[in-house]
Amino acid sequence: MNFHVLTLFPEMILDGMHTSIIGRAMEKDLLTIEAVNIRDFAFNKHQKVDDYPYGGGAGMLMQAEPVYLAWESVASKLAARPRTVYLTPQGKVFDQKMAVELAQEEDLIFLCGHYEGIDERVLEEVVTDPVSIGDYVLTGGELPAMVMMDAISRMVPGVLTNAASGESESFSENLLEYPQYSRPEVWHERAVPPVLLSGHHENVDKWRREQSVIRTAMYRPDLLGKAKLSPKEWQLVHELKKKTVTEKESETEQLQKAISGQEEKDENI
Ligand code: ADE
Repeated sequence: MNFHVLTLFPEMILDGMHTSIIGRAMEKDLLTIEAVNIRDFAFNKHQKVDDYPYGGGAGMLMQAEPVYLAWESVASKLAARPRTVYLTPQGKVFDQKMAVELAQEEDLIFLCGHYEGIDERVLEEVVTDPVSIGDYVLTGGELPAMVMMDAISRMVPGVLTNAASGESESFSENLLEYPQYSRPEVWHERAVPPVLLSGHHENVDKWRREQSVIRTAMYRPDLLGKAKLSPKEWQLVHELKKKTVTEKESETEQLQKAISGQEEKDENI
C-alpha cells in the first residue's frame, strides 16, 4: 500500500506516522508514506497558495492550480488513475468497512485542506472519495488523513503480526469487542471472569461472543440491526432491554417518591 498525502504540513504527516505498528510496516516495505508539500507547487515567488473567495465571505481558500499540480505530480507516476480521498466534514463518514475496502488499493492519495477549504473546481477534477471522520470540524485534513491511514494500514496483509487479530475485533461483525484480561488474576479485588481460566476453549468463545452482544446492546445498539444474531442472542438483547427498562422505572419511581415527600414537607411548613 502506498499512501500519498497532499498537504501544507508534510512534517506533521511524517512525524505522526513513523511510530509503532505503522513504522514497523514501513520498515518491512508493506507500506510507504509520501508527503507532498502543496506549497512547492505555488506559482508565485512568495509560495502563497490561498486567496479570497469570490462573492465574499470569511477566510481564505486554497487555490485550484497548486493543488492540481501537486496531485498531478503523484498521479502522473502511477499506471492507473488513483483513488483520491478529500478530507472534509461534508464527506461520507469513515468506518471499518471503508477501511477494509480502501486497503485493497495499491495507491491512495489523500488531499488535506486548510483555511476555509479548496476551490471547488479542482475538487471536481481530482477527488473520487470525499470522506469525513465524524460530525465535528477540525482545522485541517492532516489528522483525519492520519486516522484513515492508521485504520487502513491495519487491514493490509502482514501489517498486524497476529493474523487473526484484525478479524475478531470491534466492528468486524458489527459487534463491539469483548472485554480482555491479563495477569494478575486478581487486581484491586477485581477477579478475572473464571471461564477465562478454565482452559475450556468452547466455553471461552461462547462467553466472549455473549459479552460482545451485551456490550453492543448497551453501548452501540445502533449497530445491532446490521449484526447477525442467533434467535438466542436476540432473546438476550430483549432481556437486557427489559432489565434496563425496569431499572429506569424503579429509578423514576424513587425520584417520584422523593419529590412527593419534599412536596408534603413543603405543605406542612
Ligand atoms: N476536515 C475538517 N474537519 C474534518 C472532519 N471531521 N473529517 C474530515 N476532514 C475534516
